[in-house]
Amino acid sequence: MPSIGKLDVSPQGFGAMGLSHTYGQADDASSIKTLHRAIDLGITFFDTATGYGAGHNEELLGKAIKDRRDSLVVASKFVHRPNGGGAAVPAVTPRAAVEASLTRLGLDHIDLYYLHRVDPDIAIEESIGELGRLVEEGKIGGVGVSEASAEGIRRAHATYPLTALQSEYSLWTRDVEVEILPTIRELGIGFVAYSPLGRGFLAGAEVSDPDDRRRQHPRFQPEAVAANSLRRATIEQVAKRVGASVAQVSLAWVLSKQVVPIPGTRHINHLESNWAANHLELDSESLVALEAAFPRGATTGARYPAEALKLVPPEPIAA
Ligand SMILES: NC(=O)c1ccc[n+]([C@@H]2O[C@H](COP(=O)([O-])OP(=O)(O)OC[C@H]3O[C@@H](n4cnc5c(N)ncnc54)[C@H](OP(=O)(O)O)[C@@H]3O)[C@@H](O)[C@H]2O)c1
Repeated sequence: MPSIGKLDVSPQGFGAMGLSHTYGQADDASSIKTLHRAIDLGITFFDTATGYGAGHNEELLGKAIKDRRDSLVVASKFVHRPNGGGAAVPAVTPRAAVEASLTRLGLDHIDLYYLHRVDPDIAIEESIGELGRLVEEGKIGGVGVSEASAEGIRRAHATYPLTALQSEYSLWTRDVEVEILPTIRELGIGFVAYSPLGRGFLAGAEVSDPDDRRRQHPRFQPEAVAANSLRRATIEQVAKRVGASVAQVSLAWVLSKQVVPIPGTRHINHLESNWAANHLELDSESLVALEAAFPRGATTGARYPAEALKLVPPEPIAA
């Protein structure tokens, strides 16, 4: 069983964000069925955040796991100020955020709590120091950060030992390979790979809902989709050759990097198929072909809209 710091987790976790109307509509009754199926399959690691659906996601997850919480590792996250906010916006403290998350989740303890984005106006030592105190008090089990730079990770870890870094990692977002993965491996910090299916693109999914948040993302603009589809054709070829789905090949590639992906889905059939990727070991021919089709930094379109892009580490120089 993989571990993240002291936490033993399933080879894949479940990312719950999409159950709060992020990538198209979701309804709570079927989301709860999907979450229960995830637990039945053996998924023990569940990821949410204060910002997903403005609290809806934590409440939904809390409701779904109410009777089965003891065998699960629950992770959530907070930001001091939404979208960076700026110094004029009053900052939420880690303590207030944790208390609110505990209430929404209906728990007395959250296993892993991340700083979702480093606030440009608050020293990382201040955020992490306070989260460390909340570990000492037993309110959270471990401290994580999401999308910190290598320097930020070192500063955070020197303040309070980090359990996990959560950053975007998939075939079309390989930025972390340059500095971040070597840094967390040196420091013994776990790595949680978010959007491992490229927000659905690397699973062959299409955006149809007019309110889908991906419509604001540069990579989901028509010209970027056209260019990146040429790269995705290699995943389709590998999938055909090994007798797997496109999503399974994309996930198997992430799993081959010894990290814990947290794919999200609203659908039980997708969930079951994604989970089966745990048993798909890609041969070296496949790995070479996939990495040649997706060289680091070659994806068309930035991975976030302009404002959100300011809050993640800059893209490293292309391989
Ligand atoms: N730390 C951060 O800043 C951050 C940012 C983003 C996400 N996250 C976390 O990471 C989790 C996963 O990331 P994500 O949801 O952005 O992206 P993802 O897991 O890469 O992709 C999710 C999308 O893929 C589709 N999908 C999943 N399996 C599929 C399959 N087998 N076939 C076809 N389509 C499939 C889903 O649609 P269906 O629902 O239709 O299956 C959904 O639209 C989130 O839930 C969240 O917990 C963290």
